[in-house]
Amino acid sequence: MDVFIFSENFHDLWELFFSKTNGINGEDKMKKMIGFIVLLLAFLGVAFYFGEREISQSRQKTDTPTVGVLQLMSHPALDAIYDGIKDGLKDAGYEVGQDVKIDFQNAQGDQSNLKSMSEKFVNEKAAVTVGIATPAAQALANATMDIPIVLGAITDPVGAKLVANNRRPGGNITGVSDQAPLGAQLDLMQEILPKMKNLGIIYTSSDDSAATQAKMMATLAQKAGLTVKKYSVNSTNDITQVAAQMVQNVDAVFVPTDNTIASSMETLVAATNAQNIPVFPTVDTMVKQGGVATSGINQFKLGQETGKMVAAILQGKSEPATTPIHFEKTGQLIINKQQADKLGLKIPAPVMQKAQEKGKIIK
Ligand code: TRP
Repeated sequence: MDVFIFSENFHDLWELFFSKTNGINGEDKMKKMIGFIVLLLAFLGVAFYFGEREISQSRQKTDTPTVGVLQLMSHPALDAIYDGIKDGLKDAGYEVGQDVKIDFQNAQGDQSNLKSMSEKFVNEKAAVTVGIATPAAQALANATMDIPIVLGAITDPVGAKLVANNRRPGGNITGVSDQAPLGAQLDLMQEILPKMKNLGIIYTSSDDSAATQAKMMATLAQKAGLTVKKYSVNSTNDITQVAAQMVQNVDAVFVPTDNTIASSMETLVAATNAQNIPVFPTVDTMVKQGGVATSGINQFKLGQETGKMVAAILQGKSEPATTPIHFEKTGQLIINKQQADKLGLKIPAPVMQKAQEKGKIIK
Protein backbone atom coordinates (compact mmCIF):
# COMPACT_ATOMS: atom_id res chain seq x y z
CA MET A 1 0.00 0.00 0.00
CA ASP A 2 2.77 2.37 1.00
CA VAL A 3 4.61 1.61 -2.16
CA PHE A 4 1.53 2.39 -4.15
CA ILE A 5 0.98 5.75 -2.46
CA PHE A 6 4.63 6.58 -2.74
CA SER A 7 4.69 5.90 -6.45
CA GLU A 8 1.47 7.84 -6.92
CA ASN A 9 2.96 10.80 -5.09
CA PHE A 10 6.15 10.45 -7.02
CA HIS A 11 4.15 10.53 -10.18
CA ASP A 12 2.41 13.74 -9.07
CA LEU A 13 5.69 15.32 -8.14
CA TRP A 14 7.09 14.45 -11.51
CA GLU A 15 4.11 16.13 -13.09
CA LEU A 16 4.41 19.13 -10.81
CA PHE A 17 7.95 19.84 -11.83
CA PHE A 18 8.14 18.62 -15.34
CA SER A 19 4.74 18.71 -16.88
CA LYS A 20 3.32 22.08 -17.78
CA THR A 21 0.14 20.71 -19.23
CA ASN A 22 -1.25 19.03 -16.20
CA GLY A 23 -4.85 19.50 -15.17
CA ILE A 24 -4.59 19.39 -11.37
CA ASN A 25 -5.14 22.70 -9.66
CA GLY A 26 -2.68 24.49 -7.30
CA GLU A 27 -4.31 23.44 -4.02
CA ASP A 28 -4.29 19.82 -5.02
CA LYS A 29 -0.67 20.08 -6.02
CA MET A 30 0.17 21.56 -2.64
CA LYS A 31 -1.60 18.76 -0.75
CA LYS A 32 0.14 16.12 -2.78
CA MET A 33 3.47 17.84 -2.22
CA ILE A 34 2.97 17.93 1.56
CA GLY A 35 1.83 14.34 1.54
CA PHE A 36 4.91 13.38 -0.34
CA ILE A 37 7.26 15.26 1.95
CA VAL A 38 5.64 13.79 5.05
CA LEU A 39 6.05 10.37 3.57
CA LEU A 40 9.63 11.03 2.63
CA LEU A 41 10.45 12.25 6.14
CA ALA A 42 8.76 9.24 7.66
CA PHE A 43 10.78 7.01 5.41
CA LEU A 44 14.02 8.76 6.27
CA GLY A 45 13.13 8.58 9.95
CA VAL A 46 12.65 4.84 9.83
CA ALA A 47 15.84 4.38 7.86
CA PHE A 48 17.75 6.55 10.33
CA TYR A 49 16.33 4.64 13.31
CA PHE A 50 17.39 1.26 11.97
CA GLY A 51 20.76 2.58 10.87
CA GLU A 52 21.48 3.97 14.32
CA ARG A 53 20.32 0.79 15.96
CA GLU A 54 22.67 -1.22 13.81
CA ILE A 55 25.59 1.05 14.63
CA SER A 56 24.95 1.05 18.37
CA GLN A 57 24.55 -2.70 18.37
CA SER A 58 27.83 -3.25 16.61
CA ARG A 59 29.47 -0.70 18.89
CA GLN A 60 28.17 -2.63 21.87
CA LYS A 61 29.59 -5.84 20.43
CA THR A 62 33.07 -4.47 19.85
CA ASP A 63 33.05 -2.74 23.24
CA THR A 64 32.46 -6.00 25.14
CA PRO A 65 35.90 -6.79 26.54
CA THR A 66 37.43 -10.22 26.11
CA VAL A 67 39.07 -11.93 29.04
CA GLY A 68 41.40 -14.71 27.95
CA VAL A 69 41.59 -17.46 30.55
CA LEU A 70 44.39 -19.98 30.11
CA GLN A 71 44.17 -23.08 32.31
CA LEU A 72 47.11 -25.48 32.47
CA MET A 73 44.99 -28.65 32.56
CA SER A 74 41.80 -30.07 34.00
CA HIS A 75 41.70 -31.24 37.58
CA PRO A 76 39.12 -30.48 40.25
CA ALA A 77 41.16 -27.69 41.91
CA LEU A 78 41.85 -25.73 38.73
CA ASP A 79 38.29 -26.31 37.52
CA ALA A 80 36.98 -24.89 40.80
CA ILE A 81 39.26 -21.86 40.39
CA TYR A 82 37.83 -21.21 36.93
CA ASP A 83 34.27 -21.49 38.25
CA GLY A 84 35.21 -19.05 41.01
CA ILE A 85 36.61 -16.58 38.47
CA LYS A 86 33.28 -16.46 36.62
CA ASP A 87 31.47 -16.02 39.91
CA GLY A 88 33.82 -13.24 41.02
CA LEU A 89 33.29 -11.40 37.74
CA LYS A 90 29.55 -11.72 38.12
CA ASP A 91 29.75 -10.44 41.68
CA ALA A 92 31.57 -7.37 40.40
CA GLY A 93 28.83 -6.70 37.84
CA TYR A 94 30.20 -8.54 34.81
CA GLU A 95 27.70 -11.03 33.48
CA VAL A 96 29.69 -13.45 31.32
CA GLY A 97 28.45 -13.42 27.73
CA GLN A 98 26.81 -10.04 28.21
CA ASP A 99 29.23 -7.56 29.78
CA VAL A 100 32.32 -9.59 29.20
CA LYS A 101 33.39 -12.34 26.82
CA ILE A 102 35.54 -15.16 28.13
CA ASP A 103 37.86 -16.95 25.79
CA PHE A 104 38.60 -20.07 27.82
CA GLN A 105 41.53 -22.23 26.74
CA ASN A 106 42.62 -25.46 28.38
CA ALA A 107 46.17 -26.46 27.43
CA GLN A 108 45.74 -30.10 28.56
CA GLY A 109 49.15 -29.88 30.20
CA ASP A 110 50.88 -29.28 26.88
CA GLN A 111 53.63 -26.67 26.62
CA SER A 112 53.11 -25.90 22.93
CA ASN A 113 49.39 -25.40 23.56
CA LEU A 114 50.23 -22.92 26.31
CA LYS A 115 52.33 -20.93 23.87
CA SER A 116 49.87 -20.86 20.96
CA MET A 117 46.91 -20.13 23.21
CA SER A 118 48.73 -17.22 24.84
CA GLU A 119 49.52 -15.83 21.40
CA LYS A 120 45.88 -16.18 20.42
CA PHE A 121 44.87 -13.89 23.30
CA VAL A 122 47.39 -11.29 22.17
CA ASN A 123 46.17 -11.48 18.57
CA GLU A 124 42.55 -11.07 19.55
CA LYS A 125 43.50 -8.12 21.76
CA ALA A 126 42.13 -9.53 24.98
CA ALA A 127 41.54 -6.77 27.54
CA VAL A 128 42.85 -8.90 30.39
CA THR A 129 44.25 -12.43 30.58
CA VAL A 130 44.25 -14.92 33.43
CA GLY A 131 46.74 -17.73 33.95
CA ILE A 132 45.51 -20.66 36.04
CA ALA A 133 48.58 -22.50 37.42
CA THR A 134 52.20 -21.40 37.13
CA PRO A 135 53.09 -22.74 33.64
CA ALA A 136 50.02 -21.02 32.18
CA ALA A 137 50.93 -17.70 33.77
CA GLN A 138 54.52 -18.05 32.56
CA ALA A 139 53.35 -18.69 28.99
CA LEU A 140 51.20 -15.53 29.12
CA ALA A 141 54.09 -13.54 30.54
CA ASN A 142 56.24 -14.66 27.61
CA ALA A 143 53.56 -13.58 25.14
CA THR A 144 52.84 -10.06 26.37
CA MET A 145 54.30 -7.27 28.43
CA ASP A 146 51.33 -4.93 27.86
CA ILE A 147 48.08 -6.83 28.36
CA PRO A 148 47.32 -7.19 32.07
CA ILE A 149 47.82 -10.74 33.37
CA VAL A 150 46.00 -11.85 36.51
CA LEU A 151 47.47 -14.86 38.29
CA GLY A 152 44.84 -17.45 39.12
CA ALA A 153 46.32 -19.11 42.17
CA ILE A 154 50.08 -19.13 41.63
CA THR A 155 51.98 -20.40 44.65
CA ASP A 156 55.15 -18.37 44.36
CA PRO A 157 54.88 -15.44 41.91
CA VAL A 158 58.37 -14.12 42.73
CA GLY A 159 60.02 -17.55 42.56
CA ALA A 160 58.31 -18.21 39.23
CA LYS A 161 59.80 -14.90 38.00
CA LEU A 162 56.35 -13.50 37.28
CA VAL A 163 56.60 -10.43 39.49
CA ALA A 164 59.51 -8.52 40.95
CA ASN A 165 57.83 -7.99 44.28
CA ASN A 166 54.58 -9.34 45.75
CA ARG A 167 53.63 -5.98 47.26
CA ARG A 168 54.47 -3.95 44.21
CA PRO A 169 54.54 -6.19 41.13
CA GLY A 170 55.82 -3.41 38.86
CA GLY A 171 54.85 -4.83 35.46
CA ASN A 172 51.67 -6.03 33.77
CA ILE A 173 51.11 -8.88 36.24
CA THR A 174 49.26 -9.17 39.54
CA GLY A 175 46.89 -11.73 41.01
CA VAL A 176 46.21 -14.31 43.67
CA SER A 177 48.56 -16.75 45.39
CA ASP A 178 47.31 -20.06 46.74
CA GLN A 179 50.24 -20.49 49.12
CA ALA A 180 48.69 -22.56 51.88
CA PRO A 181 49.36 -21.92 55.57
CA LEU A 182 51.66 -24.92 56.02
CA GLY A 183 52.21 -24.43 59.75
CA ALA A 184 48.53 -24.97 60.43
CA GLN A 185 48.61 -27.98 58.14
CA LEU A 186 51.48 -29.54 60.09
CA ASP A 187 49.70 -28.87 63.40
CA LEU A 188 46.61 -30.59 62.06
CA MET A 189 48.54 -33.68 60.95
CA GLN A 190 50.16 -33.94 64.39
CA GLU A 191 46.87 -33.48 66.15
CA ILE A 192 45.30 -36.30 64.18
CA LEU A 193 48.43 -38.51 64.35
CA PRO A 194 50.22 -37.67 67.62
CA LYS A 195 52.54 -40.68 67.19
CA MET A 196 53.64 -39.77 63.68
CA LYS A 197 57.41 -40.01 63.16
CA ASN A 198 57.98 -40.39 59.44
CA LEU A 199 56.31 -37.98 57.09
CA GLY A 200 56.32 -38.72 53.38
CA ILE A 201 56.07 -35.89 50.88
CA ILE A 202 55.21 -36.77 47.32
CA TYR A 203 55.47 -34.20 44.53
CA THR A 204 56.35 -33.72 40.89
CA SER A 205 59.93 -32.53 40.48
CA SER A 206 59.16 -30.37 37.45
CA ASP A 207 56.22 -28.60 39.13
CA ASP A 208 57.76 -25.45 40.63
CA SER A 209 54.74 -24.74 42.77
CA ALA A 210 54.78 -28.23 44.27
CA ALA A 211 58.56 -28.34 44.73
CA THR A 212 58.49 -25.02 46.60
CA GLN A 213 55.81 -26.23 48.99
CA ALA A 214 57.46 -29.62 49.44
CA LYS A 215 60.63 -27.87 50.54
CA MET A 216 58.80 -25.54 52.89
CA MET A 217 56.91 -28.38 54.53
CA ALA A 218 60.09 -30.45 54.85
CA THR A 219 61.79 -27.62 56.74
CA LEU A 220 58.81 -27.11 59.06
CA ALA A 221 58.37 -30.82 59.77
CA GLN A 222 62.05 -31.36 60.51
CA LYS A 223 61.97 -28.46 62.96
CA ALA A 224 59.00 -30.15 64.61
CA GLY A 225 61.12 -33.28 65.11
CA LEU A 226 59.78 -35.43 62.30
CA THR A 227 61.78 -37.45 59.83
CA VAL A 228 60.90 -36.30 56.34
CA LYS A 229 61.09 -38.55 53.32
CA LYS A 230 60.63 -36.90 49.97
CA TYR A 231 59.43 -38.82 46.92
CA SER A 232 59.29 -37.25 43.50
CA VAL A 233 57.48 -38.33 40.36
CA ASN A 234 57.97 -37.24 36.77
CA SER A 235 54.45 -37.85 35.56
CA THR A 236 51.19 -39.56 36.48
CA ASN A 237 52.69 -42.81 35.18
CA ASP A 238 55.10 -42.98 38.14
CA ILE A 239 52.59 -42.36 40.91
CA THR A 240 51.56 -45.94 41.61
CA GLN A 241 55.10 -47.25 41.73
CA VAL A 242 56.60 -44.41 43.77
CA ALA A 243 53.65 -44.39 46.19
CA ALA A 244 53.86 -48.16 46.71
CA GLN A 245 57.45 -47.72 47.82
CA MET A 246 56.67 -44.67 49.94
CA VAL A 247 53.91 -46.30 51.98
CA GLN A 248 56.41 -48.87 53.27
CA ASN A 249 58.43 -46.12 54.95
CA VAL A 250 56.07 -43.44 56.26
CA ASP A 251 53.22 -42.89 58.75
CA ALA A 252 51.45 -40.24 56.71
CA VAL A 253 51.77 -38.44 53.40
CA PHE A 254 51.69 -34.74 52.67
CA VAL A 255 50.82 -33.59 49.15
CA PRO A 256 51.49 -30.01 48.08
CA THR A 257 49.51 -28.16 45.40
CA ASP A 258 50.86 -30.39 42.70
CA ASN A 259 49.11 -30.28 39.34
CA THR A 260 50.13 -33.78 38.28
CA ILE A 261 49.03 -35.40 41.52
CA ALA A 262 45.84 -33.33 41.70
CA SER A 263 44.95 -34.72 38.29
CA SER A 264 45.45 -38.32 39.51
CA MET A 265 44.74 -38.10 43.21
CA GLU A 266 42.71 -41.29 43.02
CA THR A 267 45.78 -43.19 41.81
CA LEU A 268 47.79 -42.02 44.79
CA VAL A 269 44.96 -42.80 47.22
CA ALA A 270 44.59 -46.32 45.84
CA ALA A 271 48.25 -46.96 46.67
CA THR A 272 48.13 -45.38 50.14
CA ASN A 273 44.84 -47.09 51.05
CA ALA A 274 46.51 -50.43 50.39
CA GLN A 275 48.68 -49.78 53.49
CA ASN A 276 46.15 -47.67 55.42
CA ILE A 277 48.34 -44.59 55.19
CA PRO A 278 46.48 -41.26 55.42
CA VAL A 279 47.09 -38.51 52.86
CA PHE A 280 46.99 -34.83 53.85
CA PRO A 281 46.69 -32.48 50.89
CA THR A 282 46.67 -28.67 50.99
CA VAL A 283 43.36 -28.01 49.25
CA ASP A 284 39.68 -28.76 49.72
CA THR A 285 39.19 -30.46 46.36
CA MET A 286 41.95 -32.98 47.05
CA VAL A 287 40.40 -33.91 50.38
CA LYS A 288 37.23 -34.67 48.46
CA GLN A 289 39.29 -36.84 46.10
CA GLY A 290 40.44 -39.08 48.96
CA GLY A 291 42.61 -37.03 51.31
CA VAL A 292 41.88 -37.34 55.02
CA ALA A 293 41.99 -33.71 56.11
CA THR A 294 43.39 -30.29 55.38
CA SER A 295 43.74 -26.92 56.88
CA GLY A 296 43.71 -25.71 53.34
CA ILE A 297 42.47 -23.22 50.88
CA ASN A 298 39.11 -23.17 49.23
CA GLN A 299 39.84 -23.20 45.52
CA PHE A 300 36.53 -21.68 44.43
CA LYS A 301 37.20 -18.76 46.77
CA LEU A 302 40.65 -18.24 45.24
CA GLY A 303 38.94 -18.05 41.87
CA GLN A 304 36.44 -15.49 43.16
CA GLU A 305 39.29 -13.26 44.34
CA THR A 306 40.94 -13.64 40.94
CA GLY A 307 37.68 -12.70 39.17
CA LYS A 308 37.30 -9.59 41.31
CA MET A 309 40.82 -8.49 40.43
CA VAL A 310 40.04 -8.94 36.73
CA ALA A 311 36.91 -6.80 37.14
CA ALA A 312 38.81 -4.02 38.93
CA ILE A 313 41.31 -3.88 36.06
CA LEU A 314 38.54 -3.88 33.44
CA GLN A 315 36.89 -1.00 35.28
CA GLY A 316 40.14 0.93 35.35
CA LYS A 317 40.08 0.90 39.13
CA SER A 318 43.42 -0.81 39.48
CA GLU A 319 46.61 -1.49 37.57
CA PRO A 320 48.73 -4.62 37.87
CA ALA A 321 51.95 -2.71 38.57
CA THR A 322 50.60 -1.23 41.79
CA THR A 323 48.22 -3.98 42.90
CA PRO A 324 49.74 -6.30 45.53
CA ILE A 325 49.48 -10.07 45.14
CA HIS A 326 46.56 -11.32 47.22
CA PHE A 327 47.45 -14.01 49.76
CA GLU A 328 44.83 -16.14 51.47
CA LYS A 329 45.89 -16.02 55.10
CA THR A 330 43.83 -18.72 56.73
CA GLY A 331 42.96 -22.19 55.68
CA GLN A 332 39.65 -23.91 56.12
CA LEU A 333 39.50 -27.13 58.12
CA ILE A 334 38.04 -29.90 56.02
CA ILE A 335 37.76 -33.50 57.10
CA ASN A 336 36.88 -36.46 54.96
CA LYS A 337 35.18 -38.60 57.62
CA GLN A 338 34.41 -41.33 55.14
CA GLN A 339 38.07 -41.67 54.23
CA ALA A 340 39.19 -41.58 57.89
CA ASP A 341 36.71 -44.36 58.68
CA LYS A 342 37.97 -46.40 55.78
CA LEU A 343 41.51 -46.22 57.20
CA GLY A 344 40.31 -46.90 60.73
CA LEU A 345 41.64 -43.51 61.74
CA LYS A 346 40.02 -41.78 64.69
CA ILE A 347 39.77 -38.00 64.29
CA PRO A 348 40.04 -36.36 67.76
CA ALA A 349 36.80 -34.86 69.01
CA PRO A 350 38.08 -31.25 69.21
CA VAL A 351 39.17 -31.42 65.58
CA MET A 352 35.79 -32.78 64.53
CA GLN A 353 34.06 -30.07 66.49
CA LYS A 354 36.14 -27.32 64.93
CA ALA A 355 35.41 -28.68 61.46
CA GLN A 356 31.74 -28.80 62.27
CA GLU A 357 31.69 -25.20 63.48
CA LYS A 358 34.04 -23.45 61.10
CA GLY A 359 34.94 -25.87 58.37
CA LYS A 360 33.45 -28.80 56.57
CA ILE A 361 33.03 -32.52 57.11
CA ILE A 362 32.68 -34.86 54.18
CA LYS A 363 30.60 -37.82 55.28
N1 TRP B 1 49.48 -23.30 42.66
C1 TRP B 1 49.53 -24.11 41.47
C2 TRP B 1 50.53 -23.50 40.53
O1 TRP B 1 51.01 -22.42 40.79
C3 TRP B 1 48.19 -24.19 40.82
C4 TRP B 1 47.18 -24.73 41.74
C5 TRP B 1 46.23 -24.03 42.36
C6 TRP B 1 47.05 -26.07 42.17
N2 TRP B 1 45.47 -24.82 43.13
C7 TRP B 1 45.94 -26.09 43.06
C8 TRP B 1 47.73 -27.26 41.92
C9 TRP B 1 45.54 -27.25 43.68
C10 TRP B 1 47.30 -28.42 42.55
C11 TRP B 1 46.23 -28.42 43.41
O2 TRP B 1 50.86 -24.10 39.54
